[in-house]
Amino acid sequence: MIYFDNAATTVVFEEVLKNLNKYYTDYFANPSSIHREGQKARQLVEKSRFYISEVIGCSDEEIFFTSCATESNNTIIFGVAERFPNKNKIVVSPVEHKSVLMPLKQLVKRGFKVEFLKVDKDGKVDIDYLKNVIDEKTALVAVLHGNNETGVLQDIESIGKICREKEVLFFTDVVQSFLKEEINIEYIDFLSISGHKFNAPKGIGILYKRKDIDIPPLIYGGGQEKGLRSGTENVQLIGAISDAVRIWKQNSPEFIKKLKEIRKRFEALIKERIPQIHIVGEKVERLPHISNIIFQKVDAQSLIMALDSEGICVSSGSACSSGTPTPSHVLLSMGYSEKEALSSVRFSFGVYNTLEEVDFATEKIREIYLQLSTFF
Ligand SMILES: Cc1ncc(COP(=O)(O)O)c(C=O)c1O
Repeated sequence: MIYFDNAATTVVFEEVLKNLNKYYTDYFANPSSIHREGQKARQLVEKSRFYISEVIGCSDEEIFFTSCATESNNTIIFGVAERFPNKNKIVVSPVEHKSVLMPLKQLVKRGFKVEFLKVDKDGKVDIDYLKNVIDEKTALVAVLHGNNETGVLQDIESIGKICREKEVLFFTDVVQSFLKEEINIEYIDFLSISGHKFNAPKGIGILYKRKDIDIPPLIYGGGQEKGLRSGTENVQLIGAISDAVRIWKQNSPEFIKKLKEIRKRFEALIKERIPQIHIVGEKVERLPHISNIIFQKVDAQSLIMALDSEGICVSSGSACSSGTPTPSHVLLSMGYSEKEALSSVRFSFGVYNTLEEVDFATEKIREIYLQLSTFF
């Protein structure tokens, strides 16, 4: 099996799995219990929080554990909307993940105005336009750092600076870029992170919130996580996410170099073997692990299924509910046609992939492309 779907999720590091066993047996207690076993579990939670805050470059009071980035994103969006009732506008990029766009759709039903930013053909936000649309009614600006479908990176530092100058809160989803790109939080008010994108298990997310901003929670209960996220802390997965962050940090230069090499070779070979393809965002700064390819004249779903039958796992950005694929909102907002969007396949690499897999997969892609394109 060749797994090129690491932007969807990653394999859990072996060391993380090993430690998890220990966390389930030795740290089983409730961290809110005052007895020694409870306090032992509390220590694991707080040690993990502290380590993660050091990596992000913030205070441990600013780190909150959630169940996933979708929960972090919803908490931030609904929290800000409720916190500032005199503001009714949110400015957002059209290339956000659905876990940002869907809560905003709910806010529109409650009378909020959502202003979409303009993006160019590479999916980069038009910064001058951003300056003009922020007004005194704007509660929040949301622009994700690295796009999960195309890998294209936004200039979050400049965007954050503009927001700070205009006294508007800035939220960036760094789910795909965390540990793969430098993130300077100076101008960032909220961040969302997801463990399963960097070899931790599913079911654990992080929310960073600048400490001088208070927002109400989505979930009420026992007041855990300083009241922002009630519910008994997932001690084991908190330990696991911190371990995965540590392993990434310890191996960062090597991991990133590897991802870059793999993608470079993949794109060079795919261009050589199928000259008709188009690489989305090829000329702009992108995350090291994502390559989005438009295969002119071939339907992505057929290509993905044919690759699957060869043991190669990849994805597309189009949603396939009720049997009919819907083209990716990300590619459509970048100006690609529906046909192009339905021909796009996302290849996303991980630290366990090899150059040999790239050689094999690109040859298979060429063979399948030749078969499929003769139908058109
Ligand atoms: C950019 C981005 N944001 C948010 C999410 C949601 O993450 P989670 O699966 O942790 O809810 C994803 C997952 O694909 C993503 O790629």
